[in-house]
Amino acid sequence: MTASERRNITWHKPLVTQADRERRNGYKGAVIWLTGLPSSGKSTLAHEVEQLLFERGCNSYVLDGDNVRHRLNKDLGFSPEDRTENIRRIGEAANLFADAGVIVLTAFISPYQEDRDQARALNEQGRFFEVFCKCAVGECERRDPKGLYRRARKGEIDSFTGVNAPYEEPQAPEIIVETDKHSLEECAEQIIRYLEEHDIVPSTPTS
Ligand code: ADX
Repeated sequence: MTASERRNITWHKPLVTQADRERRNGYKGAVIWLTGLPSSGKSTLAHEVEQLLFERGCNSYVLDGDNVRHRLNKDLGFSPEDRTENIRRIGEAANLFADAGVIVLTAFISPYQEDRDQARALNEQGRFFEVFCKCAVGECERRDPKGLYRRARKGEIDSFTGVNAPYEEPQAPEIIVETDKHSLEECAEQIIRYLEEHDIVPSTPTS
């Protein structure tokens, strides 16, 4: 007996499939998983790509670390266990968005490779793209729009990623955007081009 059977829950097969939705939409649902240090530009880039996709007529949506922690994950802190649970829930939510035909962009530090791999494993091949927002920690610290690096350096925040908590760089990301070397527009274009080349969104005719 499976765990689900023991709990008297069964999987209900939908009448409208992901393929049906995608035929009608003309693009595919996918998860664009942005990862990187605090202030590496994840949220800004996610919102830029969301807007570009929206302007092309694609349903896109951003799940953002700070916002999600206000509501869905407000019970979680920044211990390793809580970060893992944060990413587990977001991975599940992102997969539901993709199944519903949306191109979802997630903007979480997601510091552990194993947690990102778990989020990837929920999706079929070619639907999950790990995007490493690569930015030197010195530059992240210089940007510091929320003043958190400064407070962490003063010892006011425990376990702040990049100061006194680890960040595991992606081992095999689909995309690396160097946010300290390229403009926001260039990084966003890089992601859009990748989505075109991998048949998630149709290419725009160049005339
Ligand atoms: S994650 O590590 O669990 O993926 P997440 O992306 O949800 O983190 O949240 C990161 C945001 O929480 C940061 O942008 C920052 O504003 C805030 N934050 C507060 N405390 C910490 C901390 N100790 N480490 C990292 N970010 C923190």
